[in-house]
Amino acid sequence: MAATIVNRRRGGRSRRTVVSRATKPVRHCETAVTETCLQLGSTLARKLLYIGGSCCPRPVPSPDAKADAVTDAPSPPPSTEAAGCPFHAGDEAAAHPPPHHLPDAGKTMVITGASRGIGHATVRRFSDAGWRIITCSRQPFNRQRCPWEEGPGDHVQVDLGDRRALQLAILDIKAKLRGGPLNALVNNAGISPKTESGKRMSSLVTPVDAWMNVLHVNFLAPMLLARGLFDELAAANGSVVNVTSIVGSRVHPFAGTAYATSKAALACLTREMAHDFAPHGIRVNAIAPGEIKTEILSPEAAARLEPTIPMRRIGTPEEVADVIYFLCSTSASYVTGTEIEINGGQHL
Ligand SMILES: NC(=O)c1ccc[n+]([C@@H]2O[C@H](COP(=O)([O-])OP(=O)(O)OC[C@H]3O[C@@H](n4cnc5c(N)ncnc54)[C@H](OP(=O)(O)O)[C@@H]3O)[C@@H](O)[C@H]2O)c1
Repeated sequence: MAATIVNRRRGGRSRRTVVSRATKPVRHCETAVTETCLQLGSTLARKLLYIGGSCCPRPVPSPDAKADAVTDAPSPPPSTEAAGCPFHAGDEAAAHPPPHHLPDAGKTMVITGASRGIGHATVRRFSDAGWRIITCSRQPFNRQRCPWEEGPGDHVQVDLGDRRALQLAILDIKAKLRGGPLNALVNNAGISPKTESGKRMSSLVTPVDAWMNVLHVNFLAPMLLARGLFDELAAANGSVVNVTSIVGSRVHPFAGTAYATSKAALACLTREMAHDFAPHGIRVNAIAPGEIKTEILSPEAAARLEPTIPMRRIGTPEEVADVIYFLCSTSASYVTGTEIEINGGQHL
């Protein structure tokens, strides 16, 4: 069987590891980012690298990868591969261990809206722990935004506002799972329409079409996905995380009525689903972010809101991703039906 060699450091000692190609060949992430930085210039490079720590999702083992396909052998000097990226020179963590050494190797997550913002950070957080990630969003997989190998094959292009398309997407996800269990479903995708002048869409002006679209994407799709993937989630004693919002429980200066209503409904749905799914071993929780630095939040809105937050700062997508990860981990094995606020005290 073909093999590739990676260099790792253990307790200051460099070792060479032979990894079987049963693990899918992976373009080293630092190399990928370096190439991308060169190609795209500083603006996009900043987007790729804005997350602290490891910048790229890790490789995931193919379903039939053998854990025993690794042998340790004495090694030559430390790898210069990690140092090839100027942002990671000397970063010990940049030398990724083989995938099956990661804590959650073999687990699979489906996440909606992974192409940017909170979803993107969540993909990175889970991937760093060894999860395989199946992503869903309207745009095709974007290699420039997401420089990891498994992406295109594990991406489902779907408009969650289209109920029929969603049913086909669920079949597509099942096909990608190949009868295997699903450990986590993260319903993250969300839309928050504004008026033409970019203002809050109040209950007096929200068109019916906007209501229907928001309710489909933000509320109905999470329920249809969870129900459609019920068997796979039950097979894994899996976990569902619905991304709600602080605006589900209070009027907000920028977020509109339909958006707020959809998030309040999603919080309620979380409670109902937690009750219904619990006897089948599936936990269902929600996280309610406050102001998080993503494209949904304009710089003007961020500047206006910052002083009103007790912690006096906007949150980062990584801080949200960490809580989602906690809820999907065994650390939260007795937590279901709850909604965790992530807002620097804004709800107080
Ligand atoms: N950022 C905040 O301050 C904040 C605060 C509270 C709650 N939230 C919630 O957190 C979640 C993520 O927010 P974010 O700020 O990270 O959002 P974002 O940056 O706007 O990203 C939204 C994601 O959802 C996908 N998406 C949008 N409409 C879709 C559709 N019809 N079908 C499929 N995918 C769709 C987008 O991908 P495509 O464009 O490729 O479809 C994108 O990946 C949302 O549910 C949002 O309501 C955010």
